[in-house]
Amino acid sequence: DKLMQELVDLEKENPELAAPHSPTQKVGGPPLEKFNQVEHSKPMLSLDNAFSEEDIRKYYERTKSTLAEEPVFVGEPKIDGLAVSLRYENGVFVQGITRGNGLAGEDVTENLKTIKALPLRLFSEETIEVRGEVYMTKEDFESLNQRRQKQELQPFANPRNAAAGSIRQLDPKLAASRPLHIFIYSAVNPREDSYWQTRQKLKGLGLPTVPLAQQLKFSQVKPYYEHVASQRSSLPYEIDGVVLKVDSYRYQSKLGSTSRAPRWAIAWKLKTEKKMSRIEDIFVQVGRTGTVTPVAKITPVSVAGSTVHRATLHNEDHIKSLDAKIGDVVSVHKAGDVVPEITEVLHDRRNGREKAFSMPSVCPSCGQKIERLPGEAFHRCQNLSCPAQLKERIKHFASRDAMDIDGLGDTLAQQLCDQGLVQDVGDLYYLTEKQLVTLDRVGKKTAQNLLQAIEDSKQRPLESLLYGLGISLAGKGTARRLVSHYNSLSAIASAPQQDLEKIEDIGPKVAGSIRQFFSRLSTHQIIKKLEDAGVSTEQRQKQKAGQSSLEGFSIVLTGTLSVSREEAKSLIEANGGEVKSSVSSKTDYVVAGDNPGSKSKKAVDLGVPVIDERTLWVLLEEDVL
Ligand code: IVH
Repeated sequence: DKLMQELVDLEKENPELAAPHSPTQKVGGPPLEKFNQVEHSKPMLSLDNAFSEEDIRKYYERTKSTLAEEPVFVGEPKIDGLAVSLRYENGVFVQGITRGNGLAGEDVTENLKTIKALPLRLFSEETIEVRGEVYMTKEDFESLNQRRQKQELQPFANPRNAAAGSIRQLDPKLAASRPLHIFIYSAVNPREDSYWQTRQKLKGLGLPTVPLAQQLKFSQVKPYYEHVASQRSSLPYEIDGVVLKVDSYRYQSKLGSTSRAPRWAIAWKLKTEKKMSRIEDIFVQVGRTGTVTPVAKITPVSVAGSTVHRATLHNEDHIKSLDAKIGDVVSVHKAGDVVPEITEVLHDRRNGREKAFSMPSVCPSCGQKIERLPGEAFHRCQNLSCPAQLKERIKHFASRDAMDIDGLGDTLAQQLCDQGLVQDVGDLYYLTEKQLVTLDRVGKKTAQNLLQAIEDSKQRPLESLLYGLGISLAGKGTARRLVSHYNSLSAIASAPQQDLEKIEDIGPKVAGSIRQFFSRLSTHQIIKKLEDAGVSTEQRQKQKAGQSSLEGFSIVLTGTLSVSREEAKSLIEANGGEVKSSVSSKTDYVVAGDNPGSKSKKAVDLGVPVIDERTLWVLLEEDVL
């Protein structure tokens, strides 16, 4: 620390001595306006996945038959982080780019410089490009989330999102405050004969390679996979598979790549991590639409990177089908590796002291009757002004995908409801500093920040507002689709049910729910409050004719997008672009959704840029999904 301080002082006095690779750079430079897009020297591909021993055997047979020889593999844990490409010139780190769409990514050099494990200068004056995975440890992730919760910021769902969020911070000082790490897993245009040799060379240069790597004959692959799986929970970082790579570069070239993934490597995914715990209690939670969900309080266990204290039991029928009781020993996993869920009850571990649970007949928050309507899986609290529902509605309204009001989390929402400061989301726009400072742990600065965040939210796009209003059955996709057909909240509010049903993916149930929502007096009162406060309830103006963002562009769509082809086409056309069915050298962009077809390969062959859906929305100046 002393030496560091000495260096900082020295560089302050003699700025000409501050080398770009100086360790002082690890604290983060000045904030950036935006990240520059940079093309990759070679595409950053994905990996194909194998989910079973059989998948791996088939992969091996295919590989062996193409090579007509027995390959040697290198096995490495698959780190669950985000991929970056790093360039060193004459031994000095000069540029780091995110994966982006695989062909071009964002220049995040300044943030990468803050990663302590990443050398700013190599042990030799090598010019080299390497690729690796940036990650956050499970422990750092937990403490970051605890800090965020205290600050009423939304916690990250997993270490990967936390790492990605940190690397995409425009303020490198903020990125420096987030503890990130990196492992390098490949070199671009290596001069060695095999990946194993490259690993030795990378280590020699001072770069952190992926731990637990091994050279393997095919017969050793399964034991290796099992070994890595057994280490998973004790590793300080998250892994989600084992990557098998054909070691010899000559063989790698012979096998080649598809436009998506190399044929010389495959990821054998690990099974979702499960842990044993015990149900200490079962309580119910009231959601924003009144659904009453039973939740198990369990003995805390660490599952897939975070400590789990509670797990959803979904509904009454689910408890019945699991035959779960208070006191039961259970197996817990994270559905989609995010939401903890009880998957199994170990009935043979019962001791007779377990207690059955039954759904309460009244709402724990407002005391009104809870009902399960015929044909519905969930119990509901029917009281629209139930404080628990209100709190959830406010949290939802303020959430990132909705109005994105930073600082308005669980505790604050609870206090606002308890103190009667808000009766609906419209009231948020009438809060005053004087009211806010009366709340627990809210000082002048916090109050001002919150008011500013609320003020900023007035300009959020219509679909964010619509989603934030929390119409039953209408998620983000529905909000987006509604906004692509109607350009104001009042137009949606007065749209007849049969018109709504004509919109792609909106069936009678969803349309009915939208109509019901807008037929309530309370909804009209909220909308009036929002409008009077100056919240934007119209879709942002599209570009003027002649200045359209895609004027003259020829675009080809491939793969599954989050909106229908027709919608994407009409949005592109509304912005002056043209959608073509086949790729040629005249195509300006190929937009690749999930599972893109041969069109994206053809685009790569013709040198036509392939962009992802997000980038399309950016080009359209639509709001990114
Ligand atoms: S090798 C695709 N090795 O997984 C080029 N990738 O799902 C060869 N990843 O894009 C990649 N750990 O970001 C390789 N030990 C490892 C890895 C690894 C994580 C990432 C990488 C890749 C993604 C594919």
